[in-house]
Amino acid sequence: MPRFYISTPIYYVNDVPHLGHAYTTIAADTLARFHRAIGDDTRFLTGTDEHGLKVEQAASERGLEPRALADQVVERFRSTWTHLDIGNDDFIRTTEPRHKEVVHDLWRRMAARGDIYKDKYEGWYCVKCEAYYPESELLEGRLCPIHKSSPATWLSEPTYFFRMSRYQEPLLEHFANNPGFVQPEGYRNEVISFIKSGLRDLSVSRTTFRWGIPVPDDEEHVIYVWIDALTNYMSALGAVGGELHRRYWPITCHLIGKDILRFHAVYWPCMLLSAQLPLPGTIYTHGWWTVRGEKISKSMPATRVDPNQLADDIGVDAVRYYLLREVPLGLDGDFAYENLIGRYNAELAHDLGNLVSRALTVAGKFTGGKVPPARPELAGAGRHAELAREAASAVTDAAEQLRAYAPSRALEAIWRLVREGNRYINDTQPWALARDPARRDELDQSVRTALEAIHCAARMLAPIMPRSAGQIIELVGGARGGADSWPAPERFGQELEAGAAVGESRILFPRIDEERQAALLDKWIPPDARPADAPAPADEKAALARGTPATGAPAKAAPAKGAPPRAAKGAKGAADAPASPAAGPVTFDEFGRMDLRVAQVVEAAAIPGAKKLLRLLLDVGEPEPRQVVAGIAEAYQPGDLVGRKVIFLANLAPAVIRGVESQGMILAAGEKAVVGLSAVDRDVPVGTKVR
Ligand code: MSP
Repeated sequence: MPRFYISTPIYYVNDVPHLGHAYTTIAADTLARFHRAIGDDTRFLTGTDEHGLKVEQAASERGLEPRALADQVVERFRSTWTHLDIGNDDFIRTTEPRHKEVVHDLWRRMAARGDIYKDKYEGWYCVKCEAYYPESELLEGRLCPIHKSSPATWLSEPTYFFRMSRYQEPLLEHFANNPGFVQPEGYRNEVISFIKSGLRDLSVSRTTFRWGIPVPDDEEHVIYVWIDALTNYMSALGAVGGELHRRYWPITCHLIGKDILRFHAVYWPCMLLSAQLPLPGTIYTHGWWTVRGEKISKSMPATRVDPNQLADDIGVDAVRYYLLREVPLGLDGDFAYENLIGRYNAELAHDLGNLVSRALTVAGKFTGGKVPPARPELAGAGRHAELAREAASAVTDAAEQLRAYAPSRALEAIWRLVREGNRYINDTQPWALARDPARRDELDQSVRTALEAIHCAARMLAPIMPRSAGQIIELVGGARGGADSWPAPERFGQELEAGAAVGESRILFPRIDEERQAALLDKWIPPDARPADAPAPADEKAALARGTPATGAPAKAAPAKGAPPRAAKGAKGAADAPASPAAGPVTFDEFGRMDLRVAQVVEAAAIPGAKKLLRLLLDVGEPEPRQVVAGIAEAYQPGDLVGRKVIFLANLAPAVIRGVESQGMILAAGEKAVVGLSAVDRDVPVGTKVR
């Protein structure tokens, strides 16, 4: 049985999943589902990269041990993948013992070849990349060429080196003998010229921090995080020579973003050549998503598209569809919410949704809600035969495209069938045939062929939109499990059983009208990323400016006096913002003056005339709820808030804002604009102290 083993990169746990991570993972999931459907022995691996200075620093910024940070963030990745219907077979964490064993094994194999030696390393290091750069590659001001604004730091440390230079020629030879090793071709050429420019030995251990896997027999050193991370693809299969390893190694495809091409296409193969293990089949490199022209970055909330939220609001399959349809896998793309909605309306609601609902309607009305029998004497001619040919060619073409890592082209092929299906219903006019009892056979054939075309399209869509495909297959009377196998072109027209019940017509993808579109854009786009509108009234502005998140605040009270110190940044740009009352660090006692508690929203309402403010009633465990005015109306609808638990500052001096008394403040994230509310990560009773 052919084998297909595919991986995503393992994601760093210093960040939560965003659109970029979702993209790679959805694409890999689609390819894995397709290969399962064509009967390949398939394995799909994803996971998290948990070691290294970057993670250690992120944890210490949050006052956490690196392991605790990893434990928290890994759950975000896991739950996001569940939410997005990602069907990975395994999830590897680099902190697992099974991983460490294989990293050590690989290290020892490389050492046994004489490829690991100890020396001193000095150079410019970018922590964000976890990589050294020659001075010539740094930008002016010694800035990292990738993270343009962060300066590289000079490190000097004893280190183990990997004799990578030894593999320059063998690697070039491998490229020459395996034209599909790095795809698409542009990336292949880029890597080949990099290798030809000369491979230097690689520093592969660190002594300046502890968070990593120790070098075997030398605990002073931890193994360089990339050597550690790349090994995940093998360690997830258990010991070299073990059952899974024998079954799935070498991997068929590493699907990666272009940012990490060099690590996968140079370092990793050199490591494997040294360890005398087979090299991956293909390193498929996809392009880079920007969001409305901007690079996705932590400092730009507007670029932090949350795939979970999109899936909640317009359906997980619409998100999967859009990402794979919009941009061919190897190219860069720009994400714009308007395009997502545009494709949703035109292609899902209109083309696919209409086809399904029309076919179900005619089956419900004219063939008793059942799949009609095939009429072989009619099937081979005219429009019926034309649609059958279109379906067979779509099946072959889509499969070819998916094998070639081109889901967007596969969708084009599937859409040819979907559109042709709509034309077919128009042309064969089952409603007209139904008026003439003498044309009963023609009616049967027309309804049946339409249902078969939908069934066929849904089976091809299953790798991309598993949930909707399953639903559609059931609606048209297909057998259970139909979504699990790829259709055979020659069987078109004979897949459905005559007499099988067809579901009632329904709208699978309700059209997003202008009003809903405006509401969605309002919800998705953080207020500070929208075009500037009329200036807010003074008291509202003050409420929004004070304190970092500005959520429930006295405006006209003098907050500087006795109020806790707050981040000056949040007030940036607001003319009437109070001056930051304290520079320097906050003492423990100062922090202790804040009475922070868990509160639950029991009521939320707009304040007439104040477009940025909401009036909230909060249960804080006191006999009466507290009323606060919160500057969150641009980020949250009142209906989204009731029942939500937030962190509440109970001893803030009360104040009257827009005629409404505010008796405290809720905490939220965001600088000028609120982008998220505070929360506790488990169900804690209201009134519980937060410290
Ligand atoms: N931990 C390393 C990978 C180790 S693999 C042995 C790492 N992690 S990461 O969290 O930064 O993830 C990088 C990957 O996430 C990219 O290669 C890509 O797959 C995906 N993407 C992150 N941002 C992206 C975009 N803006 N656009 C497309 N994909 C993006 O690097």
